[in-house]
Amino acid sequence: MSARKTALIVGATGVSGRSLLTHLESRPDWDILAVSRNAPDFPTRARHVQADLLDPASCREALGAACRDVTHVFYTAYADRPTIAQTREPNAAMFRNALTAVTEVAEGLQHVCLLQGTKYYGQYLGKFKTPARERDPRHPNPHFYYDQEDCMLELQRRGSWTWSCPRPHVICGFALGNALNLISVLAVYGTMCRELKRPFTFPGKAGAFTSIYQATDAGLLARAMEWMATDPRCANQAFNITNGDFFRYENMWPVFAQYFGVEAAGVETVDLRQDMGRHEDVWNRLVERHGLMRNAYARVADWNFANYAFSNDWDVMSDTTKSRRFGFLEFIDSEEMFLQLFDRFRAAKVVP
Ligand SMILES: NC(=O)c1ccc[n+]([C@@H]2O[C@H](COP(=O)([O-])OP(=O)(O)OC[C@H]3O[C@@H](n4cnc5c(N)ncnc54)[C@H](OP(=O)(O)O)[C@@H]3O)[C@@H](O)[C@H]2O)c1
Repeated sequence: MSARKTALIVGATGVSGRSLLTHLESRPDWDILAVSRNAPDFPTRARHVQADLLDPASCREALGAACRDVTHVFYTAYADRPTIAQTREPNAAMFRNALTAVTEVAEGLQHVCLLQGTKYYGQYLGKFKTPARERDPRHPNPHFYYDQEDCMLELQRRGSWTWSCPRPHVICGFALGNALNLISVLAVYGTMCRELKRPFTFPGKAGAFTSIYQATDAGLLARAMEWMATDPRCANQAFNITNGDFFRYENMWPVFAQYFGVEAAGVETVDLRQDMGRHEDVWNRLVERHGLMRNAYARVADWNFANYAFSNDWDVMSDTTKSRRFGFLEFIDSEEMFLQLFDRFRAAKVVP
């Protein structure tokens, strides 16, 4: 059996962090520290460390005391803001505060796994070189991924640990109240179309309906993160991590429609914040009628993110050859993933 390891999952209650927490909990050789502002609202054997990463003093106090035995840092925290440009400052600061505090006390630190994404390639700005490869240069537009990576490389010079950076696209998993959650947005949108007796139109741009797209299952990402954090061949490497297949919404839409019992329809571009955002009363009635988990409408569907997620009218493709060459061979059928995750949101009574 391998030596015991202590994971510090920063942002352990989010869509990626929670899945990693669940995965590492199933492994006997990991002790786990889970960092977030709010305590997990699900059972876990991890020790929760409450810290506000935006506050360097709180961070140093909380992490300094708890992190002496940490061997592996998994950074999955994220601060959402109304625009992508505005996410830069808080996310760069949070990472610097957290990693500085940990590296000051964790003398046995072996590895830092920093979660990134395809925004690394400028995917959110328009047509980009596809399939994206890990060796592709940074986009000239600033992004907090670059700030966090630069900070990590700077701190690494003072330590003897290695790093890895997974680059997923649209992380699909079970979490509530997080900003970037495609599954709950789709599940609530399908449910609301049924309730409002409306056809299940594609609310994004016409080009987004037909372009090539991809997704990353949060469970697969969690297993990939453990792999790259512990396999010495992955030291100081970035890896695209996606399900391994591609899809177009035009083909997926009828499958979703059938699942939610609505009539599949074509593109009708709308601003979902205005179109769906005004139906909070309808959602509240659904919650009562079906005895659903009591979630505020805004907690289960971030229509701002939905607008963004359905607006990429260009191909989004990552090349996953490198992770396979280095030894990570898992793949997932994206259609099956969507349906299984919808089932999970139903089983948890988030949607009827
Ligand atoms: N979700 C996606 O589809 C996706 C796709 C590709 C890449 N990514 C990248 O993956 C990373 C993680 O994103 P995610 O979607 O998994 O995040 P998320 O679901 O929004 O989770 C964020 C986590 O960070 C914690 N957090 C936020 N502000 C904090 C603060 N001030 N102090 C302490 N903890 C704080 C949250 O807990 P509290 O609120 O309780 O503090 C939560 O645990 C980001 O860099 C994102 O760009 C995400």
